[in-house]
Amino acid sequence: MLQKAVLITSTLLATARAQQVGTYTAETHPSLTWQTCTSANECTTVDGSVVIDANWRWIHSVNSSTNCYTGNTWDATLCPDDESCAVNCAVEGAAYSSTYGVTTSGSELRINYVTQNSNGANVGARLYLLKDESTYETFSLLGNEFTFDVDVANLPCGLNGALYFTQMQADGGLSEYTNNKAGAKYGVGYCDSQCPRDLKFIDGEGNAEDWEPSSTDSNTGVGGHGNCCAEMDIWEANSISYATTAHPCSSLGQTECDGDDCGGTYSAERYAGVCDPDGCDFNPYRLGNTSFYGPGSDFTVNTDDTITVVTQFITDTGSTSGTLSAIKRFFVQNGKVIAQANSETTGISGNEITAAYCEAENSVFDGAGEFSAKGGLSQMSAALAEGMVLVLSLWDDDYASMLWLDSDYPTNETASTPGVARGSCSTSSGVPATIRQQDASSYVTFSNIKFGAINSTFTAS
Ligand SMILES: *[C@@H]1O[C@H](CO)[C@@H](O)[C@H](O)[C@H]1NC(C)=O
Ligand SMILES: *[C@@H]1O[C@H](CO)[C@@H](O)[C@H](O)[C@H]1NC(C)=O
Ligand SMILES: *[C@@H]1O[C@H](CO)[C@@H](O)[C@H](O)[C@H]1NC(C)=O
Ligand SMILES: *[C@@H]1O[C@H](CO)[C@@H](O)[C@H](O)[C@H]1NC(C)=O
Repeated sequence: MLQKAVLITSTLLATARAQQVGTYTAETHPSLTWQTCTSANECTTVDGSVVIDANWRWIHSVNSSTNCYTGNTWDATLCPDDESCAVNCAVEGAAYSSTYGVTTSGSELRINYVTQNSNGANVGARLYLLKDESTYETFSLLGNEFTFDVDVANLPCGLNGALYFTQMQADGGLSEYTNNKAGAKYGVGYCDSQCPRDLKFIDGEGNAEDWEPSSTDSNTGVGGHGNCCAEMDIWEANSISYATTAHPCSSLGQTECDGDDCGGTYSAERYAGVCDPDGCDFNPYRLGNTSFYGPGSDFTVNTDDTITVVTQFITDTGSTSGTLSAIKRFFVQNGKVIAQANSETTGISGNEITAAYCEAENSVFDGAGEFSAKGGLSQMSAALAEGMVLVLSLWDDDYASMLWLDSDYPTNETASTPGVARGSCSTSSGVPATIRQQDASSYVTFSNIKFGAINSTFTAS
């Protein structure tokens, strides 16, 4: 997927410290409960919390409120090079609700789309589940299932309320990199399969060298480095479409990359990197079932109502030590368990992600072959086996207006070409500059996160 950080607009000056740590605003993580389950209704509540990614935060001089980064440019004095940037700059604590529009209550997290604040406007957020103050929770998904409730009713075309896993370091790189004093407590260390180059800090250094401010977004840019790691997109969705996508990387763990060799969305050479930026995806609309998911009671899964999303990581042995053989999906709505729709596309069969499904999808949809080139389902399995960090986000898409999720894409191909139609949104929808105005009050809620043995986290009623 195309995950990018959309920041606070231009002059964010009020409260923060980077790779070092700021002292203007105390970092208080919103609490979020979730559950681990061993068998149906045998669940234990865990007291967790969430942390917002460092990219959203105010970054300023370690000694003053002078910005290290303003709008979409770095201060040349504080950040003459990547190494001194990390020494000179601090990431600040976050006022979650007032600045970023992020709130929690019990087991529910809400992320608002546009939040007006004293510095301008914040757009979306990317959050990680914490185990304690300074450590991300890591999940071992193999042979287990992961379930959550989601409300997508207020997510129109162009928005993406995402729940996914990436192979970030559990401490955000705090122990490995001397100049990283912030770590997981401040949401440092993000990586994904696009090898994002909009990150402000990677591996204990700034990303100021070769930074090109975005021409379309006044808050973001692309730096000389990116950060790659495997990504398992359980859920990328709005009220029109959803996709579940596995993105393996040929390397395991988090890996810094250089310039266009990073590949992915931010680089001139999409397939130059170690990760598969396209992934093997399952979107029922794209697979020919246009009435499975959408707003209203005519759809099998009605996005006007809360949806329970169950994802099972089935292994060849049936145990947690096996190798990934299928990613299976159920929905629960109004007490009814609903199996994921089968593919209706000739040449692609089934309702789950398997090695055979991914091969067929790549061939029928004329894919680039990157999934298998980067190790396929077995490499995804290897990444899952090492444990992954839970990411919850709401974002819009400067690169492709989210058309790859909810419209016809690529836009130069006819909609009847297999794989092009992905949802009912217009090809002119989803432009961030437009929807930040028109759909500013959009939001997503995630709640009732449960993790445990196969079939332990949901029941029909
Ligand atoms: C901050 O203050 C310390 C101590 O005076 C000094 O060594 C350092 O260079 C200063 N850093 C910046 C970025 O001003
Ligand atoms: C879509 O999926 C639902 C649920 O599996 C099924 O009942 C329906 O017949 C499918 N529709 C089409 C057009 O394939
Ligand atoms: C659409 O654009 C892509 C990328 O430029 C190109 O490879 C493809 O051939 C084009 N398709 C059509 C139908 O023109
Ligand atoms: C889980 O439940 C499904 C649907 O009821 C069933 O087909 C499957 O065998 C169960 N799996 C296990 C491991 O109990």
